[in-house]
Amino acid sequence: MDILSIVGARPQFVKAAAVSQQLRGEHDELLVHTGQHYDAELSEVFFDELALPEPEFHLGVGSDSHARQTAAMMTELERIVDDELPDVILVYGDTNSTLAGALVAAKSPSSPVLAHVEAGLRSHDWSMPEEVNRRLTDHCSDLLFTPGPHAKATLEQEGITDGVFITGDVMYDTLLQIRDELHTNGVDAGDVPDEYVLATVHRAKNTDNRDRLEAIIDAFDRLDTPVVFPAHPRTVAALHEYGLWDRATTATDVIDPVNYGRFITLVEGANCVATDSGGVQKEAFYLDTPCVTLRETTEWMETVDAGWNALVGANTTQIVDAVRAAADPPAKPDLYGSGNAATRIVRHLEQQVES
Ligand code: UD1
Ligand code: UDP
Repeated sequence: MDILSIVGARPQFVKAAAVSQQLRGEHDELLVHTGQHYDAELSEVFFDELALPEPEFHLGVGSDSHARQTAAMMTELERIVDDELPDVILVYGDTNSTLAGALVAAKSPSSPVLAHVEAGLRSHDWSMPEEVNRRLTDHCSDLLFTPGPHAKATLEQEGITDGVFITGDVMYDTLLQIRDELHTNGVDAGDVPDEYVLATVHRAKNTDNRDRLEAIIDAFDRLDTPVVFPAHPRTVAALHEYGLWDRATTATDVIDPVNYGRFITLVEGANCVATDSGGVQKEAFYLDTPCVTLRETTEWMETVDAGWNALVGANTTQIVDAVRAAADPPAKPDLYGSGNAATRIVRHLEQQVES
């Protein structure tokens, strides 16, 4: 089986690491890096740390408007698909790199099988570009791998019933593997206090709106517990643009994005995580750290229903109250599989594509 895997942004490196490990050796995988993320701390560090193979193709598209960025990816991807004629095109999650890969695959005259890892998730917030990307990708896909039964039911409600398989969450695979290595080899969490809140913010809805970003920073400022804040470059740029940088650095310990091992060590050691990330909500859950989500909606509702995640939006009082109240609920259900999603995905690909 010839597979073309498409990645481009930080969370996709974490997801693809697990699947690529299972694919290589048994099948021919070509990895495409669109170049959506290009700073070493958002890209290269993950390849080194997660033993992701060097991409066979690097498109180098960089940052741009949604249309120009997606179009640049599609132009290059179409050429690669026409040349390589893969059996399968594998896309991950909900970024512009995901959508570009999906549209090219769906319209390719060579009709590759389009497989979507992390299918069936919905925030129901159409103002988020990720919601557009994930819905369109699902509706183009031939094979849809969902992290749990809720996502499968969502697809059913939208009329997608063929080619849907519950596999579990590939991010859990990567997390378990790296955590085991870290526990064996030890890791330096860096210079952090014994008690801290770990914060990340990067969603356009929060960074592109001064009032929301200010409300979040104000909340961090009001907390008694110190806040460690590995900041995405778009957030750093927004804080400077809005004149909020000095307040942010007073309210929190703003640091550069950190590598994966250090990040999950920080999640594990935190009293609470405050984030608008999708992946980090789940990682907090896996690592038994309560999460406060700086959004009004989430595609990971099961973590909220289980009591491990609180949706507070960008409301200062609600953020402060939720962080202060954060505590481990008494029970932790299995929500997204047991850490063998990549094996299951590859098995389904073999059954569906090679038969
Ligand atoms: C993208 C995804 C988002 C995902 C996130 C993971 C889309 C629409 N958004 O958001 O779903 O959660 O990645 O982190 O696909 N920048 C840099 N260096 C880089 C990359 C970006 O400085 O290496 C800055 C640029 O100013 C750029 C901005 O960040 O304009 C936004 O980058 P972009 O990739 O468009 O979106 P993210 O916010 O990273
Ligand atoms: N992450 C990391 N270092 C950081 C922040 C995040 O390694 O400083 C990892 C995190 O563990 C998770 C992924 O990046 O696996 C999440 O990416 P992000 O929050 O950017 O994207 P999202 O999941 O919201 O799409």
